Amino acid sequence: VYQTTSDLLLPLARHGEPLHAQIEGHLRAAIRERRLVAGQRLPSTRELAGELGISRGVVVEAYGQLAAEGYLRVRRGAAPVVAAAAGTGEAPPAPPAAPAPRFDLRTGVPDLALFPRGAWAAAQRRALREAAHSDLGYPDPAGHPRLRAALAAYLGRARGVQVAPERIVVCGGVAEALALTVRALRAGGARRIGVEDPSHHGTRGQITHNGLEPVPIPVDGGGMDVDALAAAAPDAVLVAPAHQFPTGVVLEPRRRAALLDWARRADAIVIEDDYDAEHRYDRHPVGAVQGLDPERVVHVHSVSKTLAPGLRLGWAAVPARLAGAVVEQKRYADLGAPALEQLTLAEFLARGELARHLRRMRPVYRRRRDTLLAGLPGLEAEGIAAGLHVLLRLPPGAGEAEVVAAAAARSVAVSALSEHVVATARPPALLLGYGWTSEPALAEAARRLAAAITAAGAPAGA
Ligand SMILES: Cc1ncc(COP(=O)(O)O)c(C=O)c1O
Repeated sequence: VYQTTSDLLLPLARHGEPLHAQIEGHLRAAIRERRLVAGQRLPSTRELAGELGISRGVVVEAYGQLAAEGYLRVRRGAAPVVAAAAGTGEAPPAPPAAPAPRFDLRTGVPDLALFPRGAWAAAQRRALREAAHSDLGYPDPAGHPRLRAALAAYLGRARGVQVAPERIVVCGGVAEALALTVRALRAGGARRIGVEDPSHHGTRGQITHNGLEPVPIPVDGGGMDVDALAAAAPDAVLVAPAHQFPTGVVLEPRRRAALLDWARRADAIVIEDDYDAEHRYDRHPVGAVQGLDPERVVHVHSVSKTLAPGLRLGWAAVPARLAGAVVEQKRYADLGAPALEQLTLAEFLARGELARHLRRMRPVYRRRRDTLLAGLPGLEAEGIAAGLHVLLRLPPGAGEAEVVAAAAARSVAVSALSEHVVATARPPALLLGYGWTSEPALAEAARRLAAAITAAGAPAGA
């Protein structure tokens, strides 16, 4: 196998098809599949022959054939280039790009335009300056001790999580924390895991992909139905007690206690997804369930909703009996998280920058939520006290799909509750993320959405 100067892989067999035909075949396929694109320069015949260790005549023949077929443009004294029209007849037509919606109210991201770039850059510089040479070697697969200590302190303060730094595993977001925990549970013999219905389809996908069977447990106004959980008798359960996704309900105190009672009786593990728990507006913070029984609960959390999901920085606080198994999964996944990113977050936390950023953002998000809701009078919204999205009930007669389409026609992107329903159908509702839309834009988006709801709900022909 040879790699050419244009980075193209040209595996040549010494026996079988003539060499010029092999080169032609590889280049033809690369152009058709657009691994080589119009205008791209290929090595000269001399260069390619030299790299492949074959005679120049073979390359001249291959290039000549491809030029005759219209794939290449060759000129004396210049390197051949891929022809403008090459391959166009054979490549599948590119799908027309859907125009980006002017107002994107889909859930899942904080305001990325207000990411604290200055503070992050300062933390990054300090982290790099102060890193020991040994910090650049293979990391501890569980995470850098400095970050684990900073996280244990932060989680204890901000979320009531009781965890020693040694029980924290640094992961790529809640997504990986969940994946590793699921794999560790599966390796220990677990097969079925309770999931809230409705719940985030992505997190359920993570569970199935990593080998456990999700068992839907209904959610009502008090959170997950713990009696139904006990009846279903899974080996573990995934729950978002502080701000359930997508309904936004809080697991009521009686059920928090009942959940842990069940886990102790059934010898089951509770995975607590604390994904957006820092964002709250008109209610007291709800501490983590983990703090009530650290040996029963795996607490998974990340900076995706507080800073940016692109950082891919998250963690799991793991009970002693699972810690080794989760670290083992992390070791086999990638030998540990990137060291400098970890040290940057450790600096950021140690200097109180996350708390400062959250203090700055809370009134911004609150005003955005209020603007959105004020623009939708007469409609019922739920789960509004916390998080970065609300659940908007649709009035009778307005179907989810019709409203989503009518909103899209007005350049407003929203998602339907039913995307997250597992088994139990619910009255039609939309999820509206307000995290990264400005107040004036939210006012306009709400106006358009109200019009879309009216249009979709109007009887046919009206
Ligand atoms: C409920 C819930 N849990 C977990 C995640 C994944 O978060 P992370 O970016 O930390 O992997 C999401 C992402 O939207 C989410 O909505």
